Amino acid sequence: MSIKAVVKEHFSHSPISRHLNKHFLNAQEITIKNTNWEDINLELRRFSSDDVFQCVELFMRVFSSDPWFDNWLSFDYVNDYLNELILNPVFMGFVAREDSDEIAAVCFGHKKSWWMGKEFIIDEFYVKNDRQGKGIGSLLMDYMVDILSENDYKRLILTTNRNIPAQWFYIKNGFVNNENRVVMIKEI
Ligand SMILES: CC(C)(COP(=O)(O)OP(=O)(O)OC[C@H]1O[C@@H](n2cnc3c(N)ncnc32)[C@H](O)[C@@H]1OP(=O)(O)O)[C@@H](O)C(=O)NCCC(=O)NCCS
Repeated sequence: MSIKAVVKEHFSHSPISRHLNKHFLNAQEITIKNTNWEDINLELRRFSSDDVFQCVELFMRVFSSDPWFDNWLSFDYVNDYLNELILNPVFMGFVAREDSDEIAAVCFGHKKSWWMGKEFIIDEFYVKNDRQGKGIGSLLMDYMVDILSENDYKRLILTTNRNIPAQWFYIKNGFVNNENRVVMIKEI
């Protein structure tokens, strides 16, 4: 049985929402069962300031790799960027931590109090390179959606590049392309 099949089976027998403590700040522990490889034990929880260093290191590693190959010059650049997000008064972050204490997935975003209801704008979403494709991103997304919907958020919004794996990941997780919107840039 493939890793992905086992993850799906795990989902269907024990949907994460059934186990979620409904308090906004509480964490959720979950295991991705896998017969051919080791199980992945995850703690899904809100971001805490103790996580910054690992989030910065992981961001550099993930986005310097395929398919992004971003040219972040140093740890300090990424540290500045992520801290700008964190210092936003309406910042919200979520992480998936493995029992090795290593962070395997991160989502940084912020609240937008729109007239149609509260929105969560995803600024960054990433999974550790060697943990991608094992269902961790989907679990973190489900965890976030449960918490956000419990707190009256109406939608999640993000931008990403076309025709890269992330696009298929978001589609798989229920996102749709908004045909009315364009992303516009003016170089100065
Ligand atoms: C994109 C990303 C967040 C997805 O998280 P993940 O844990 O790897 O994804 P999952 O294992 O939960 O995948 C769920 C679905 O996404 C799609 N998907 C994920 N990776 C894919 C890939 N490399 N190619 C095609 N589809 C892919 C598949 O539809 C998959 O469903 P399936 O298992 O039934 O095929 C993660 O791979 C990542 O961090 N990539 C690099 C950074 C990045 O691109 N971040 C997003 C920036 S906007």
